[in-house]
Amino acid sequence: MSTVKSPAVSPLKDYIKTNDKRFLDELLELLRIPSVSADSKYKPDVLKMAEALKSKLVAAGADKVELVPTAGYPVVYGEKIIDPKLPTVLVYGHYDVQPADPLNLWTSPAFEPVVKDGKIYARGSCDDKGQMYMHVKAFESMLKTNDLSCNVKFMIEGEEEVGSANLGQFLKENKERLKGDVILISDTSILANDVPSIDVGLRGLCYMEVEVTGPNRDLHSGVYGGAVANPINILCEMIASMKDKNNHITIPGFYDDVLQLSKEDRADLAKTPFNIENYKKDLDINDIHGEAGFSTIERTGTRPTLDVNGIWGGYTGEGAKTVLPSKASAKISMRLVPNQSSEKTAELFTNYFNSIAPNSVKIKVTTHHGGEPVLTPTDSVAFKAASKAMEETFGKKPIPTRGGGSIPIVALFEKILGLKSVLMGFGLDTDAIHSPNEHFGLFNYYKGIETIPLFYKYYTEMSKK
Ligand code: BES
Ligand code: MN
Ligand code: MN
Repeated sequence: MSTVKSPAVSPLKDYIKTNDKRFLDELLELLRIPSVSADSKYKPDVLKMAEALKSKLVAAGADKVELVPTAGYPVVYGEKIIDPKLPTVLVYGHYDVQPADPLNLWTSPAFEPVVKDGKIYARGSCDDKGQMYMHVKAFESMLKTNDLSCNVKFMIEGEEEVGSANLGQFLKENKERLKGDVILISDTSILANDVPSIDVGLRGLCYMEVEVTGPNRDLHSGVYGGAVANPINILCEMIASMKDKNNHITIPGFYDDVLQLSKEDRADLAKTPFNIENYKKDLDINDIHGEAGFSTIERTGTRPTLDVNGIWGGYTGEGAKTVLPSKASAKISMRLVPNQSSEKTAELFTNYFNSIAPNSVKIKVTTHHGGEPVLTPTDSVAFKAASKAMEETFGKKPIPTRGGGSIPIVALFEKILGLKSVLMGFGLDTDAIHSPNEHFGLFNYYKGIETIPLFYKYYTEMSKK
């Protein structure tokens, strides 16, 4: 695919090639462990996954490998300090995965990985076991071929998919152990296999749950219908009123802190290769939908959202039951952009939601986990090293892009450890993360393993200047 002539095979490249089958088999082994952090039924499996990863780090040659306990699942830690005078790269990733539901939509079982058409199908294949494990195998390869050019510390957590609630505390308690120069993360996407990119921003998250209560019990919808508030109807009206006809969010003050895009920002984003027809075709939609006045790239990367993630109440079983329900609920998430804050947004939401409720219902609003949005620098040594590494392996300079997803801990790395992150991801947006049939290309897995050592090399070289 690449037109760049590959340089003479190096011992490192040779090592990766010789061991590629084993590198894949080991990942498949990890993918068989259903480490779903959201569901306590999987607790033994999440712990088993932490143990398995610990063994893999030891086998790869890391020192001081241990499971560091937290109030939740342990952090898998390991390091290799070759020379304290050299820079230290902290690798972050997560070993937990999203629930696999809906199970019936998987073409092969979520935790029985298969390789089909050059892709690994399994929950966590891309997010984030596959991407995290590229780092372990790149590390092993560098170590075995005497190619490791700086110090490495691994910090792989097991609660990312449930909001990393205990990781901030872990950072505070382990500041000394986590001393380093930069955080390296592969948990994002590239634009396409022939269009490399590096995310330079992530959205934040504010996740709310609302409950609307009408009468004190479910009622006969004929006897009482039309005379008593139906909480599902009311909830739907309330949710609908939170956006206007331009899909602007109507919560007062919601946009106050939103960093406006400059003309240059918009011009840069407009250059992002993006094919709207392919996008619609992939999702099987007739048209896109979003905030007026912004492109799709701008909408996902630079604008906040308000989305219902789940809604329930009343009768949803077989047949028809005439009922005026007592309660209705919804889970509502807001993706945030710089410089919005999740705490302030939760307060604005709560106040507004209460204010628009009619007197005929009672309201309960609760806040779930959140996270702050981030922008990462493009003028840093680390970004330049990542860019140079990807340019070499893809044969094209990566384009800086903004990721629409969230990795809440990135803002805390900056706040607590004072460290900036580089988001050198290798997935694709079409890898179906969090969805049925999640997959990760073998191309992407091996591209990651090949690119990561170059990041270390250039980061060390460029840090010296
Ligand atoms: N790896 C994703 C985040 C991501 C994906 C960022 C693609 C950019 C591009 C991460 O595992 C994730 O799913 N995060 C959650 C955070 C939440 C559970 C607190 C998210 O974004 O919903
Ligand atoms: Mn992830
Ligand atoms: Mn995820």
